[in-house]
Amino acid sequence: MNIRHELEIRISKALAAAGAEEGAPALVGPAAKAAFGDYQANGVMPAAKKLKCQPRDLAEKVVAAAELDDLAEKVEIAGPGFINITLRSTWLADQLAEELSRSAQAGQGRSAPTADQPQTVVIDYSSPNLAKEMHVGHLRSTVIGDAIARVLAFLGHDVRRQNHVGDWGTQFGMLLARMDELTETGESKEAELADLEEFYRAAKQRFDSDEAFADKARALVVKLQGGDERILVILKQFRDISLAHCQQVYHALGVMLTPVDVCGESFYNDDLPKVVEELDAKGLLTESQGAQCVFLDEFTNKDGEVLPMIVRKSDGGYLYHTTDLAAIRHRIGELKGDRLLYVVGTEQKLHFQQLFAVARKAGFAPAGVALEHVSFGMMLGGDRRPFKTREGGTIKLMDLLTEAVDKAYELVSEKSPGLPEDARREIARVVGIGAVKYADLSQNRTSDYVFSWGKMLSLEGNTAPYMQYAYARIRSIFRKGEVKADELRGAEFTIAEPAERALAVKLLQLAETLQAVAGECLPNLLCGYLYELAGALMSFYESCPVLKADRALRASRLALCDLTARTIRCGLDLLGIETVEQM
Ligand code: ARG
Repeated sequence: MNIRHELEIRISKALAAAGAEEGAPALVGPAAKAAFGDYQANGVMPAAKKLKCQPRDLAEKVVAAAELDDLAEKVEIAGPGFINITLRSTWLADQLAEELSRSAQAGQGRSAPTADQPQTVVIDYSSPNLAKEMHVGHLRSTVIGDAIARVLAFLGHDVRRQNHVGDWGTQFGMLLARMDELTETGESKEAELADLEEFYRAAKQRFDSDEAFADKARALVVKLQGGDERILVILKQFRDISLAHCQQVYHALGVMLTPVDVCGESFYNDDLPKVVEELDAKGLLTESQGAQCVFLDEFTNKDGEVLPMIVRKSDGGYLYHTTDLAAIRHRIGELKGDRLLYVVGTEQKLHFQQLFAVARKAGFAPAGVALEHVSFGMMLGGDRRPFKTREGGTIKLMDLLTEAVDKAYELVSEKSPGLPEDARREIARVVGIGAVKYADLSQNRTSDYVFSWGKMLSLEGNTAPYMQYAYARIRSIFRKGEVKADELRGAEFTIAEPAERALAVKLLQLAETLQAVAGECLPNLLCGYLYELAGALMSFYESCPVLKADRALRASRLALCDLTARTIRCGLDLLGIETVEQM
C-alpha cells in the first residue's frame, strides 16, 4: 500500500467534509521530525485561507471528520494547523506480515505495488551515435534510463524501450568511404573495426588530408540518401559491428537494452518527406534562405529574434529535428505511447523544447500524451571539468568499467583475503559495476556530478558497496542463525522498540518512493530511500538483539531483517545493480 497516498485521500475527504472544496489537497508528506510522528498533512492552511477561517478551527474539524482510526494511533494538531500522524504499531505489524507473505510469493525481492493507471511509456535512452564507440558521455543516459524503465515496468506500466541510435548523417560518408576502400583492397573489416575509435580517427584523417577521399565520402552520402543498395549493405555491416560493441557494453553494465530495442535514425527516412508535407499542410512552414523552417514565437534569441527550427535544408537534406518529429509520430501512432520520455543531456534542452512545441502545434502529439525531456547534467572529473583521460581524450565506457572492476577486486582482496579467487572476482564485478552506476543514480540527475573512485567505492555513505554490504550482512545473520527465510513466512511482527518502529515504517514506504521515482523520473529518490532504510537497519541492530531474542521476538526480528534484505535487493535491482550473498 502507498501509505502517503492513502492518507492523502482520507484527509482530503475530511477536508471536504469540514467545508473545504471537494478535492482540496491534504498535502501529506513524511513528518519533518521523528518527534512529530510519521506523517504530516499541511493542507489545512491553504484551505483555511480560501475559506477565510481560522486554520486551527478547520484543523479540528478535519481531525474529527477524518477516518484514520484503523491505521493511526495519534493524530495531533500542531502550530498554525499542521496535522501530525503517528501510525499504529499493530497496523504496521499487520501490513508487514501481509507484505512479507506477498513478497515471498513473488521471489527474493518485494512484491510489486501496481500503478493506479497503467500507461504505455516509451523511453528513449542510451541512443549513442554509432559512428564511434560508446564513451563516458553515454553512461548517464544509459544508466538513468534503464533504472527509470525498470521502475516503470515494476509498477505495471507497459514500457517500450527505444534506442534511438545515430546511424545516419554526413559523418557516415567518410566511414563508408573507408569501408569501401577496405573492400577494394580485400582487407579484413572486422579487424579494422575492432577498435571503432581508431577506425573513426583514421577515416577522419583521410577525409581531412585527401581531397579525392573527401569527395568520395560526400558522393557516398548522396548515394546513401538515394537508397543505393550496395552502399546500404556496407552501412549495415558497419552498423552491425558498432551495435555489437554497444551490446557488449550493455551486457557488462547490466542494462536491459537488447537489439530489439534499437530503432535508429535511419528507421525514419521514409517518413521524413511526409513529416515536412504535413507541417506544410498545417501552415507551419516558412522558407528561409532556401531551407524549410518552423518559426514559433516563443523561441527567440537574445536579441528577441524568433528562432527557426529547420526541418529541411536547402540541399534537400533532413535534420535531427525532422527525424525526431517522425519518431514522435511513430511512438504515438504505432507504439501507442501515453507518455514519451527522452533521457538526454541538458545541452539538448532547446532541441526538445522546440520539438515538443512543434509536435503539439502540428497535432503529432495530442494533449493527452505527455512529452518529457528527462535531462541530466554532465559527469565531471576531479578538476570539475568534463571527465576526460589525462591526455584530454574521451574515455571509452568499456575501459571505465574494466577499471572499476579492477579497483573493486583490489578492495575485496584486501578486505576478504580468505575468499577463493573466483568468488572475489565475482564480488568485484558486482561491486565495481554497481559502484559506477549507483554513483550516477544517487545524484539528482539535473545537476553535474564529480566522478570519484574513492567516494563511489567507499563502504560508508550513500554508495553501492554500502548497500550491498548491508544486504550481505543480513544474509550472514541468516547463515549464522541457520535460519531459512522461508521459515518466516507466517511470522507475526512485534513492533515495540523505537528502532523497530522506524525500520517498519521505512519498509512500508517502498511503494510511495517508487511512485515518486516514476512520476518525476528521479532514481536518486530510490537511492536516498535505500540509504535511509540501511540507516534504520543499522540502528535497529544496535538496539535490538536478533538471534539472541526470545522465540517469538526472534522470529519477528528475523522477519524484519528478511523484509529489509528483500527491499534492498529489490531496490538495487530496480537500479540495475546486483547483490552478493557475502562480501
Ligand atoms: N544520438 C543522440 C546524441 O548522441 C541522442 C539521441 C537522443 N534521442 C533523441 N530522440 N533525440 O546526441
